[in-house]
Amino acid sequence: MTHPRPESHTPDPGFRERSIWSKETQERAARIVARYPLRRSAVMPLLYLAMREEGYLTDEGMEEVSRWCGITPAQVYAVASFYTMYKREPVGRYLISCCTSISCMLLGSDEVMHSIEESSGVPHGETDEEGLVSVEHAECIGACGGAPALQVNYELIEGVTPEKARDLVQWLRAARPEVLDGDEMQQLFGTRRSFDWAIREEEGAIGPYPAFGPLGTVGES
Ligand code: FES
Repeated sequence: MTHPRPESHTPDPGFRERSIWSKETQERAARIVARYPLRRSAVMPLLYLAMREEGYLTDEGMEEVSRWCGITPAQVYAVASFYTMYKREPVGRYLISCCTSISCMLLGSDEVMHSIEESSGVPHGETDEEGLVSVEHAECIGACGGAPALQVNYELIEGVTPEKARDLVQWLRAARPEVLDGDEMQQLFGTRRSFDWAIREEEGAIGPYPAFGPLGTVGES
């Protein structure tokens, strides 16, 4: 016996003409949707694409995703509001996410977080006036072996001390790198790592969202 597959609604055929996204982003969205048997399965990468386009998730961006996926805006919102990496308010150019879960906490992440907040003047969940630095504490970021760990635009730095965290904030404000390179930041501001990566990462993050090639959120580092 075959079971009917849950199909998405067929999108309005003219929706691309009315799209609020650039042609480049629309082409990326079309390539991503084509990877999935059901267009609705593309909702999560398209939400990152929407953030790349507008800097954060606006209502209009989520409506655009709903049209591409053939689902309702409420269904898109249900996904976007569940995951903390989907930002529904403007975020600074550099998002510092300091892990404060158990392994990091036992090795001093509270002090690291305090150092970030004090040196940046930005408390958890906020952004500086210039829109340059946002700060948040995060649940485990999967680098417990290199605790305490943090991410800047989701590029990882392990073995961070309060002093190194302060240096990181000062460096971001002074150097304002276009592309954040995790290996470079690890060398400058990290100490112990959970393990050595065998291959050097050639690409870095260009904004406060994860660096994925298909989303155009990577840059040569
Ligand atoms: S507890 Fe911090 S990376 Fe896992």
